[in-house]
Amino acid sequence: MPCRQAVLKCGGFGSIIGPAAIHFARICVMTSAVRAIPGESGWPIIGHSLRYIKNCNQLYDEMYAKYGAVYYNDFLMIRNIHLFSPAGNEFVLLDREGNFSSRLAWNIPLEKLFPNGLMLRDGEDHKFHRRLMAAPFKRAALAAYVDAMNPDIDSVTTIWGRRADFLFYPAIKQLTLGLAAKIFLGETLASDADTVNQAFVDLVAASLVLVRYPLPGTPYQRGLRGRRLLETYFRARIPGKRQSPDSDMFAEICRAQTESGESFSAEDIVDHMIFLMMAAHDTTTSSLSSVCYALAQNPEWQARIRADIDRLGGDRLHYDDMDEFTAAGLVLKEALRLYPPLPTIPRAAVRDCHFDDYRIEKGSIVTVSPYFTHRLPEIWTRPDEFDPERFGKARAEHNRHRFAWIPFGGGAHKCLGLNFAELQVKLVLFYLLRKYELAVVPGYKMPYRPSPIGRPGDGLPLILKPLS
Ligand code: HEM
Repeated sequence: MPCRQAVLKCGGFGSIIGPAAIHFARICVMTSAVRAIPGESGWPIIGHSLRYIKNCNQLYDEMYAKYGAVYYNDFLMIRNIHLFSPAGNEFVLLDREGNFSSRLAWNIPLEKLFPNGLMLRDGEDHKFHRRLMAAPFKRAALAAYVDAMNPDIDSVTTIWGRRADFLFYPAIKQLTLGLAAKIFLGETLASDADTVNQAFVDLVAASLVLVRYPLPGTPYQRGLRGRRLLETYFRARIPGKRQSPDSDMFAEICRAQTESGESFSAEDIVDHMIFLMMAAHDTTTSSLSSVCYALAQNPEWQARIRADIDRLGGDRLHYDDMDEFTAAGLVLKEALRLYPPLPTIPRAAVRDCHFDDYRIEKGSIVTVSPYFTHRLPEIWTRPDEFDPERFGKARAEHNRHRFAWIPFGGGAHKCLGLNFAELQVKLVLFYLLRKYELAVVPGYKMPYRPSPIGRPGDGLPLILKPLS
């Protein structure tokens, strides 16, 4: 089995000695022997697709053991080159040399369902759209969302405690969908509730299927129908939202302008809104499930979060309190390390390039893996253990390489919603831990399904014991 220590050395020069050295190193690489990337294709046509869907993390561990930190697999006749090291993450995500396209890679699963979303754009076009999309994520906007979310999270978490056979995952999905309606759309969805919710649920479900052909009655066809319904829903409301003083994300995006007065077209707004809801939803439910599972197994961290709640005082958690809610922040970081919602991040090579002495051909899909680098023993002390203190100031293990901890990606496409996600997770923890002790039955181990977005395979049966 290749030594995991080699992973750090392999290609590590980029992060250590900067662009001039990279240029020099590239010349050396071009004049030294170019190695063929090792790997295997798997079954005819489907390649390793089924194994990826079943448990991609298991597949990665197995391939790494055979081939090391750079190898290839085939998925549905598409060659995937995996670079599994912090240096590989930096090479791909920072993309200093302009080797990669996010659009071409994400178009493969998402083009029909989420066309022109931010992740499906490149270069100057991406920069322009990202700048305009910053409006709903500014400080004042975030503070308003926090105020709006407090009462809903308070009341829904109270109801959870009355339920028998409580399953956390479907419950948190429902809660975050309701919050998305309010924060993203500025609606309680009273009249359209069922159709709009269902359309969105169908659309997200369709992005997770393997067979992407709209045969009647298939999830993919339902997803495309859902998309059409959502397009109509958003389009009809754009003129009103552009004029409104509303503080929801939809209104912020409709009103967003560059310094030179450019704004989004109606088509852009529809595409961004639908993409944004998808990008926010399953990732946040995934994180909250992992956080609550980890807390149920580590009551001492529940106690630390409760101590912060007591210190902060008050019945509501305000935006200005968030930085002081430190234990919850550490727990979230650690849960995202162990269970990153996106187990892999893909890019398409738009030109031939080299990583170390490996040649990557134009047209290949190149993936990096948050899951894999989050468990490297040279970076993380006892990597399989839940130990949030590793992110504390004293140890700061994540700073051992700036691309060692990448649940939100990095570079130009780094998650735009990371602060919003943290606020939402902290709010849910604030209300849950004021009311309940979280537990699981003795010996319970969450059956984790890592792909395409991580989730508990059994819905996560969480026990909520009311605090006296
Ligand atoms: C814990 C929760 C979340 C995780 C782990 C997560 C993860 C990620 C990752 C890994 C990427 C980069 C993908 C790539 O480089 O190809 C990304 C991009 C993005 N995320 Fe998140 N995300 C989360 C929550 C959210 C939320 C709540 C929102 C919106 C409110 C959001 C909006 C976006 C957007 C718009 C992009 C595209 C950015 C771009 O291409 O410039 N995400 N996210």
